[in-house]
Amino acid sequence: MFQNWAQYLLAMKYLSEMTDNQTLVMYSGHPLGLFPSHPDAPRVVVTNGMVVPNYSKPDDWERFNAMGVSQYGQMTAGSYMYIGPQGIVHGTTITVLNAGRKRLKNGETSLGGMLFVTAGLGGMSGAQPKAGNIAGVVSVTAEINPKAVATRHGQGWVDEVYTSLPELLARVNEARARREAVSLAYQGNVVDLWEYLADNDVSVDLGSDQTSLHNPWAGGYYPAGLSFEEAKVMMAEAPEEFKSRVRESLRRQVAAINKLTSKGMYFFDYGNAFLLESSRAGADIMGADGRFRYPSYVQDIMGPGFFDYGFGPFRWVCTSGNPEDLAKTDAIAARVLEEILATAPDEIKGQLSDNIHWIKEAGPNNLVVGSQARILYADCEGRTRIARAFNDAIARGEISAPIVLGRDHHDVSGTDSPYRETSNIYDGSQFTADMAVHNVIGDGFRGATWVSIHNGGGVGWGEVINGGFGMVIDGSDDSARHIDEMLLWDVNNGIARRSWARNPGAISAIKREMERTPLLQVTLPNIASDSVVDSAINNLK
Ligand SMILES: NC(=O)c1ccc[n+]([C@@H]2O[C@H](COP(=O)([O-])OP(=O)(O)OC[C@H]3O[C@@H](n4cnc5c(N)ncnc54)[C@H](O)[C@@H]3O)[C@@H](O)[C@H]2O)c1
Repeated sequence: MFQNWAQYLLAMKYLSEMTDNQTLVMYSGHPLGLFPSHPDAPRVVVTNGMVVPNYSKPDDWERFNAMGVSQYGQMTAGSYMYIGPQGIVHGTTITVLNAGRKRLKNGETSLGGMLFVTAGLGGMSGAQPKAGNIAGVVSVTAEINPKAVATRHGQGWVDEVYTSLPELLARVNEARARREAVSLAYQGNVVDLWEYLADNDVSVDLGSDQTSLHNPWAGGYYPAGLSFEEAKVMMAEAPEEFKSRVRESLRRQVAAINKLTSKGMYFFDYGNAFLLESSRAGADIMGADGRFRYPSYVQDIMGPGFFDYGFGPFRWVCTSGNPEDLAKTDAIAARVLEEILATAPDEIKGQLSDNIHWIKEAGPNNLVVGSQARILYADCEGRTRIARAFNDAIARGEISAPIVLGRDHHDVSGTDSPYRETSNIYDGSQFTADMAVHNVIGDGFRGATWVSIHNGGGVGWGEVINGGFGMVIDGSDDSARHIDEMLLWDVNNGIARRSWARNPGAISAIKREMERTPLLQVTLPNIASDSVVDSAINNLK
């Protein structure tokens, strides 16, 4: 990410001239210069939006950005690791699959016939129907903007489009009865969709929302009762009335969702600030204990099921640009994961099986946009063994050119974000960022080719610190050493922190890693029973 083309051109000039004894330093898009280093050091070190904490409010960002001294962090884009929509399709598939499993009765394994209702066919949200099809459910996604609907329909990510709610419901009933995996779009307002489903007592299995509620007043969420065009006019000409219509719509949307969850629907927040903005709008979204009625997908699904075990979004890019190389890497990754599955403990068999299914389907699903890149979720052992197998295949000439390893920031160790990536950490440390800062420092001296750390990204400036890396592997012994040393740290830093926060999956995962890796010694928590703690405190009184 750059603030202007001059920065881009200067960075390209440095990259084309630099040697293995220099490191390029990037300050929020500004190439500070090439500094002498050594071949094992990162070739590029990137920071974005790193400000003194007291100056990290959104208004500060407006000022610093206008002055050109800082820029918004972003996640993978800020780490030069963006690979198009594939990452979000994968993450959404895993989320829908595991949300659906919460609804399965004993002995059932298929999500066939389940109904998933959500909103948004935009940049990231547009992955929902595609993911629904891969997970095997019937999905209905509301989208107010006809252009967004046409784009996703034209691209084949949405199968059918409806503007009539009765016709849509008839098709839903038919698809459920036939257990079809089909994605239906409702071109209209999501409030109307939820109210229609609630009024008609439709039994919905899974519910979510991916309108852009992190930005509710400037086009992220369109109020009910207005067309898309009318809403845009009101937003510009009568912003206060627009805000009040948004709040009223959110209250109505939540009331309809509450009615359906009272009949068994599982609803989850998908990282778009739906719960937060609904509470600010005065919707009936808070539980008796002062917490939100509904969980976020990280609290319920990704945190305890994936991040605590070190499973996260490992990705790679074939620098040859050759689709045949990518197909070879897919086959290698599938083989390695199947080998690991054969002896894996029960607690991670499901995660492995989902990703074997994913990687086998990834090629036929044509998910590549631009670079020949792939993503899957794996734990430390999986990431390391896959990377080692790629390195060996490059050395043997089976893969024609070096590969760049990397990952999404939506991961076990790289991101401190109290309402998203670290929202299932409950010991108070979810508001600290030691993990993300240590992660990037540790990656930097263990063999990453570039490292990066940012403020902002996904949830907003001041709300998150996240870091990433890139590692070029070329078939050499040095690459093999870097893979072993850096990936072990890059995953286990976060597991160790989650274990110290007393997350059960993480305690078990870090103990397993210590058995595998004799040099690893992690401080484990001692779990005291509540009665012992209570009596100790009472004795002090
Ligand atoms: N959980 C995650 O991993 C994750 C990942 C990416 C994005 N997000 C969040 O998801 C949200 C959506 O991201 P995006 O990139 O798709 O944004 P986007 O703005 O491109 O898409 C949102 C869509 O919602 C539609 N919409 C808004 N109000 C509506 C309404 N009332 N009824 C029907 N449709 C309506 C908009 O027309 C738009 O097309 C953001 O808040 C983002 O931060 C979460």
